[in-house]
Amino acid sequence: MNSEMISIHETATSVTEALDTRHSIREYLSQPIPEEILKRIFEKALRSPSWKNSQPWKVHIVSGGKKDLLAEALTKAALESTPRPETSWPESYPSDAKKRMFDLGMKIYGVAGIDRKDKEARDKFMLRNFEFFGAPTAVFITSKFDLNFFVGIDLGCFLQSVLLLAREEGLGTCPQAALGAFPDVVRNALTLPQEEKVILGLSIGYPNPDSELNRFHTPRESAEDLIHFY
Ligand SMILES: Cc1cc2nc3c(=O)[nH]c(=O)nc-3n(C[C@H](O)[C@H](O)[C@H](O)COP(=O)(O)O)c2cc1C
Repeated sequence: MNSEMISIHETATSVTEALDTRHSIREYLSQPIPEEILKRIFEKALRSPSWKNSQPWKVHIVSGGKKDLLAEALTKAALESTPRPETSWPESYPSDAKKRMFDLGMKIYGVAGIDRKDKEARDKFMLRNFEFFGAPTAVFITSKFDLNFFVGIDLGCFLQSVLLLAREEGLGTCPQAALGAFPDVVRNALTLPQEEKVILGLSIGYPNPDSELNRFHTPRESAEDLIHFY
């Protein structure tokens, strides 16, 4: 199936189709998401597996005026300070991964019309993370657990469930580590207890169908290189 041919507004009717047609959406329509759809997505995602069924996740779904205020506060924090995530963000990568990351940046900047050497323009684009790329709803995934590798895997399972279920409903998403960059801002805005760590977030909404940014698909390495049968 050629995923480029599928309208990003269509719903997906199988896991394969949801996987094939999901990609990160970085421009949204302002059209709000009906609450029953959001409920369906997140309630179903609770079926995700976790280490000994420990279920380390909580999820906070923010729309409307509250989301706008949070976007303002996060943007201000990003302009005035440096990220202070509660999880350790990766610092080094194997060289082949570095190349993929570089290629991704080039592709995004190319489509967004940003010169790679123009740091001001790159920083401005980065700030769009904190405006949730114009999405009507922002989501924060938090955990009270001690953060270890397996909690990370559990939260990743939960995140992927949300991304695919959203796709099933005809919605676009962008998972964002950036939304865990200023945890105190999120905790204050949502009056969360100090022990609830803000791991990451995602933007969710109806993709802007006219956006070039929403059109490109990131490549994957070949199955022959990565999947081994014995
Ligand atoms: C854990 C995680 C964190 C991410 N953080 C960001 C982010 O902060 N900002 C962003 O624009 N994209 C972010 N992404 C999206 C990735 O760049 C994207 O998934 C990857 O390039 C593959 O592209 P695709 O999602 O379109 O298939 C994140 C993805 C994951 C899984």
